[in-house]
Amino acid sequence: MAFSRAEAFAPATVANLGVGFDILGLALQGIGDRAIVEFHDSPEIVITDIQGDGGQLPREPERNVASVAARAYLDHIGEKRGLKIKLVKGLPLSSGLGSSAASAVAAVMALNALAGDVFKREELLPFCLEGEALVSGYHADNVAPCLLGGIVLVAGITVDAIRALPAPERFHLALVTPDYPVPTNEARAILPVDVSLKQMIHQTGKVAQLVDALHRGDLEALGAAMEGDKVVEPARACLVPYLREVRTAAKRAGAIAVYIGGAGPTLCALCDSTRTAETVAAEMNRVYRQAEMNSSARHTKVDMAGATALQVE
Ligand code: HSE
Repeated sequence: MAFSRAEAFAPATVANLGVGFDILGLALQGIGDRAIVEFHDSPEIVITDIQGDGGQLPREPERNVASVAARAYLDHIGEKRGLKIKLVKGLPLSSGLGSSAASAVAAVMALNALAGDVFKREELLPFCLEGEALVSGYHADNVAPCLLGGIVLVAGITVDAIRALPAPERFHLALVTPDYPVPTNEARAILPVDVSLKQMIHQTGKVAQLVDALHRGDLEALGAAMEGDKVVEPARACLVPYLREVRTAAKRAGAIAVYIGGAGPTLCALCDSTRTAETVAAEMNRVYRQAEMNSSARHTKVDMAGATALQVE
């Protein structure tokens, strides 16, 4: 049966788990972007509408992550028809919550449903990556968890390099996002080009500790690993307002660890219960309130479902 319209949802993601720069990421429950796509007879892709971006995202198809990802898909299957794409942004831009990945994944997921599920979910990764690459290069630590759900190890940018890691039942997160956009490309440009052997040993040790802690469900060891980053956070701390104060407030309220989500400025606090995560989120938000800075906070868990086709008609 041929469908004329399809819709998909793609969740927020946090890339890097403190350590694990560009190789670890997770999907978050409750927030994300939606894409609605339909074929049309002209060969072009047209962005018909974007809601929720405050007019900031490009509408030109060659400059928008969703249409670039969709173009890669259409070209690959040799589809001559073009596409209309409508985006409904649930995620703030440049916030460290994987906004560009979510738009690319939602568009490709919807398109795959529209085309009759030509590809399995994991096979959609290369198309989504083409969209993400437009804004921040080829790294799959947002796109992979967004597509597949869960906590993922991204040992490369091909499908066979993606591995699901266990998500401990008590793994809760409190998040705070100050109203202070940090473009990912700027946050990447600020990073050191080289690290010393000593740093390399330290960082790889922390990543190994983190993966082991996930397998054992040991949140204390997990938190110690998350806060063990000596390369990326020190370089990016200047981009995240009140990082130290938020960390102190979160710990005082019971958080196990606090780390920068993705390229920032969202801060993530690891907590061991819903109740603690709720309190921690409120306390982190309070830091920005007191500094008279707008921010939003929430508590959530790892989303295990990944992107979802919502409707085809
Ligand atoms: N790993 C990437 C970074 C994620 O930290 O730059 C960007 O969303």
